[in-house]
Amino acid sequence: MTKRRSQHWFGGNGKDAFIHRSWMKNGGLPDDAFDGRPVIGICNTFSEFTPCNAHFRGLVEHIKAGVLEAGGLPLEFPVFSCGESNLRPTAMLFRNLASMDVEESIRGNPMDGVVLMAGCDKTTPSLVMGAASCDLPSIVISGGPMLNGRFKGKQIGSGTDVWKFSEDVRAGVMSEQEFANAESAMSRSPGHCMTMGTASTMASMVEALGIALPGNAAYPAVDAHRARLARMTGRRIVEMVHEDLRLSAILRREAFANAIRINGAIGGSTNAVVHLLAIAGRIGCELSLDDWDRFGRDIPTILDLMPSGRFLMEDFCYAGGLPAVMKEIASLIDLDAMTVTGRTVGENIAQAENFDPEVIRPTEKALTAQGGIAVLRGNLAPSGAIIKPSAASPELMRHRGRAVVFEDIDHYKAIIDDPALDIDETCIMVLKNCGPKGYPGMAEVGNMALPQKLLQKGVRDMVRISDARMSGTAFGTVVLHVAPEAAVGGPLALVRNGDFIELDVEARKLHLDVSDTEMEVRRRSWQAPVPAMDGGYQHLYTQRVLQADRGADLDFLVGCRGAGIPRESH
Ligand code: FES
Ligand code: MG
Repeated sequence: MTKRRSQHWFGGNGKDAFIHRSWMKNGGLPDDAFDGRPVIGICNTFSEFTPCNAHFRGLVEHIKAGVLEAGGLPLEFPVFSCGESNLRPTAMLFRNLASMDVEESIRGNPMDGVVLMAGCDKTTPSLVMGAASCDLPSIVISGGPMLNGRFKGKQIGSGTDVWKFSEDVRAGVMSEQEFANAESAMSRSPGHCMTMGTASTMASMVEALGIALPGNAAYPAVDAHRARLARMTGRRIVEMVHEDLRLSAILRREAFANAIRINGAIGGSTNAVVHLLAIAGRIGCELSLDDWDRFGRDIPTILDLMPSGRFLMEDFCYAGGLPAVMKEIASLIDLDAMTVTGRTVGENIAQAENFDPEVIRPTEKALTAQGGIAVLRGNLAPSGAIIKPSAASPELMRHRGRAVVFEDIDHYKAIIDDPALDIDETCIMVLKNCGPKGYPGMAEVGNMALPQKLLQKGVRDMVRISDARMSGTAFGTVVLHVAPEAAVGGPLALVRNGDFIELDVEARKLHLDVSDTEMEVRRRSWQAPVPAMDGGYQHLYTQRVLQADRGADLDFLVGCRGAGIPRESH
């Protein structure tokens, strides 16, 4: 057997091994902690600024117990925590930074396997991206969703109902006092958003990819099942080290195809598109934006969860969780794909049961026959744009309208409620300069709220187009991730008020009715926007970020650099 990775630090009798062991013993570790047992790094995204992950100090103890029970040595380490609700200008700006922290922490330290503790939206991709660039045996455990929100006798969902309530206030049908009361009713327990937002989506994606134990997606954060799952995750990673079961053996094309299909079945977040593309790039797996359409096109959305449907994550858990969804669409996924259990997807879901066909519907009663993510192309988005049909209004899926243009988010905020704004419900709202480089960080502002005067008329949806993302908890006929983005001079930058735009989701078309000659004229007078900050990490980010169709990773981070033993430090 080849020498265990951690033994390159802790094995032997020389000066270097003395240094590595002696300092580790300052907390009371006995001699036999370094006898060659698997050293398991536990990568913790705990932060009180990331409320969705703030319970991780407790959860980690269950993982450690599991690692110890299986004969490993658990060593916890903190990494940058990307919290969605507080980080500005957007948590997405820091996903790549966090992934660098994860990658270098893993490679530079004496560990043989890793448990990745993820929760809030960007924490999941940042950890998996970093770990994928190292390719040690790795397993994800999610922190779990909050209990369902309850307000005035009704269930309310994280994010989704914030957008609804705030439009109700602006439309004059909800009081400001009621709005304030809803705050405490929405977030009733530790955990992440309990709608099918990006956190629940990514918790489902890691389970669908086969890099988390079955059941990972849905157990609420405060359910004892979650603690038990953490313990089993700790035990399992030790076995994975013995088996040398690495991410690259699991994160293969069939795993990504499964994840894309399952994303369609659960009505998952559009954010999964950029995250899965970025993860595939790190592990070196071929995956393109068009694969999202190819694999996801005919997948029915069968999970009736907000924002596409009615229920919330607690209901999903009681209905059987993701294994039950996977079983319902078993004929549409690759059952031979390998997973962290050491077994295939098919074996993992063999015993799964659907306990509530209202929540997890049989395919013939699907919410939308064609779920998934539609990839649009045309002269407005030569490198692609996306829309989530299950969250859109059917009557707007084919629409031609007059563009009302906002040059950036500040311009939008300044004029949206101006009664003089020339806009009606047939118009198409176009927002520029909110992409990876433009915002920077591709903020979740694509689901821009409608003008107050139209809300008061009862209008609740309009076609909106931007190079931004939108929150996974949001809904509407919203075209996102337009690439190339406006800030790098993509055609989106050249749209003007009064231009006509055609959206045809069925034909996968996004067309700007402006001649090529006129576009050339406009291009000559285009000037790149000035970056908000030109130093520090933001400088590196805006110089090196890839467009949305490539996952918005930094170009030099793409690829797997392995976890070879770095040179000795002394
Ligand atoms: Fe953290 Fe929604 S804000 S998951
Ligand atoms: Mg979000």
